[in-house]
Amino acid sequence: MSSRQITIIANWKANLPPSEEVALAKEIAAGLEGALQASGSPSRLRVLLAPSALGLVPVASLLRREYPQAGIEVAAQDSSLSSAGAFTGEIPADHLVGIAPAVIVGHSERRRDHGESGEVVGGKLARVVAAGLAPVLCLGDNLPEAGIATRVAFVQAQCAAAFDAAERAGSSAAQLFAAGLVIAYEPVWAIGTGTPASVEIAEAIAVGLRSTLHREDLPVLYGGSVDAATAATWFGAPTKRTGLDGLLVGGASLHADRFVAIVRAALAAAEPA
Ligand code: 13P
Repeated sequence: MSSRQITIIANWKANLPPSEEVALAKEIAAGLEGALQASGSPSRLRVLLAPSALGLVPVASLLRREYPQAGIEVAAQDSSLSSAGAFTGEIPADHLVGIAPAVIVGHSERRRDHGESGEVVGGKLARVVAAGLAPVLCLGDNLPEAGIATRVAFVQAQCAAAFDAAERAGSSAAQLFAAGLVIAYEPVWAIGTGTPASVEIAEAIAVGLRSTLHREDLPVLYGGSVDAATAATWFGAPTKRTGLDGLLVGGASLHADRFVAIVRAALAAAEPA
């Protein structure tokens, strides 16, 4: 009796030049077109591809032009804290309108490599929401040895820091939810290591975030070393609110066959029981 929507996002990071991103998008769309159409996507399953900034426009154009029935969308990997204006090199959220309906904000690689604090992440969330786009807020601990309660408390605090900063920048929690906020739990120690977090940890984080935000229906995705072999295990409790709502996939999404297998597994797991 599962009626909840599952979201699968491919984060290609800075791995490929735009020409190769277009080729990969083509292969994925061709591999999924039939399955997504048959499933009645996007009501049950939403698939988004997040190419580099350079690949956004060509990938979005390809999907619209050649695979309109598949319903695959594009997400940006980041957007700027700045508004439109004299800010050399920046990508204001406003300028993504009509290209990417969703924007990843606060990925741990941005936090690590660009010193993005909760304040910056919250400011970006507010910009994304003001542009009418849906934020995908990444949260994650760097506590490989911690117990579940410590981990949940850390992620709740990280979430609160981002929400508080978003509020100061003009977007209330209600506005974030109304914009279609999705949270992705990506523990730093599980990204690119080949060792995902346990389902138990990811579900505890989802429950902890829904509880602290008073949102039973908050969509929470998991990311970190997701692959086809384990993709279905993340949806073990599709009818319970302890369950996860989707996956944010890095390395495996760079291979069309692996990403297509992940989406198919998620689709099967989302079948009504
Ligand atoms: P991997 O799937 O390569 O671990 O990356 C996860 C990630 O960071 C997605 O945003």
